[in-house]
Amino acid sequence: MTKGFKLHDDLKLGVATAATQIEGDEQNTNWYEFSLGKGNVKDGSTPFRANKHYQLYKEDIALMKKMNIEIYRMGIEWARIEPEEGKFSKEAITHYIDEIKLLKKNNIEVLVTLHHFSNPLWFEKKGAFLSKDAIPTFLRFVEYVITSFKGLVNEYCTINEANVYATSSYLFGVWPPMKKDFKAMLKVMKTLALCHIEAYKLIKSIDPTCKVGFANHMAKFAPKREKNIIDKIASKLYDTGFQNSLTRAMATGVFKFPFGSSKKYKGNYIDFFGMNYYSRKRIKGVSLLEDDTVSHNDLGWGISPESLNELCERFHNEYKVDIYITENGTCDAKDEFRCKFIFDHLKAISTLQYVKRYYHWTFIDNWEWAEGESARFGLVALDFETQERKIRKSGYFYSKIIKEKEITDEMIEEYSL
Ligand code: BGC
Repeated sequence: MTKGFKLHDDLKLGVATAATQIEGDEQNTNWYEFSLGKGNVKDGSTPFRANKHYQLYKEDIALMKKMNIEIYRMGIEWARIEPEEGKFSKEAITHYIDEIKLLKKNNIEVLVTLHHFSNPLWFEKKGAFLSKDAIPTFLRFVEYVITSFKGLVNEYCTINEANVYATSSYLFGVWPPMKKDFKAMLKVMKTLALCHIEAYKLIKSIDPTCKVGFANHMAKFAPKREKNIIDKIASKLYDTGFQNSLTRAMATGVFKFPFGSSKKYKGNYIDFFGMNYYSRKRIKGVSLLEDDTVSHNDLGWGISPESLNELCERFHNEYKVDIYITENGTCDAKDEFRCKFIFDHLKAISTLQYVKRYYHWTFIDNWEWAEGESARFGLVALDFETQERKIRKSGYFYSKIIKEKEITDEMIEEYSL
């Protein structure tokens, strides 16, 4: 029989979103341009519609309040704030200040992500993070934002999933600018690590009270054939290449394989460890496969809550800072297994005192990058045509967990867990 459990007192719960995926009404980004290319986005949609959150943010904050959301990880759109190189928009930054003030008025604490996959078109055209002045260009934007938000925001995530950005855009060629170039991918990773390190220092110099970190996508890579030596070695290589080396470089400034070897930047560049966790993968030879030994979501991703616990333990032992689960959620259009997903993943971290934040991905169905409007990750269902928002059963479940800070036996019965 399924038994309930309590969450520890220091764990705050909320939701995460990204500007490009929810705001709508913006064409000046690499993602808008990419979405116009035939076949690039699964359903042919563009981020121009999305959730119209830029217009409807007051309504969305009221909904968050209704759902007892305590913490919110939100993005800001670089292209809106700096629409032309070196020219900043007072109107855009004021919009975000108003939004953050309203969140705070509703007692919702904010963690701001500075870069979440999306670049202004002018930056993309220059070569984005391959361009020679990428780091100062990014830092100029960071400086403008931090100075504008000083006293209002005290938690920042500099870069979201540098590992996914670099691999999807420069190795697998499925995201803009659709390159398949291993060397370019390594260069982008290295540049993003340096952007984080320099941004960390810059933010601290402007406002030393801020907590700063980044969020990387962490997966569990398990050998497909558990005793097969090739699969075992390849799993380790995936783990190193996709997440470990880059995370080490960003957090400590120590660059090792596959980035050469350098301790030139050695230091401490995280105040919390941001982990985006979704699934367990299987490795067979050199191939990366979805895990078919466990249940999976609408996109075929293997669901493994125990891997979340394992990854938290591992990275906490390594970095010795609080862990924020900056994203965790599932694609479930029919809302058939999201309640169980939430139950199992919260249970997996319920005894880990150092896990201080859990941001569910995501608040409302959104524009899911190359999946377009077809993938549904929301606690709230969205009708893209009418923009009507409707809290899903799992949304009510999550709201109740936040209120009670536990999952009771009655809740287990009510939500058929
Ligand atoms: C990204 C989100 C995305 C989610 C689900 C994460 O890798 O940070 O932007 O929507 O995964 O695919």
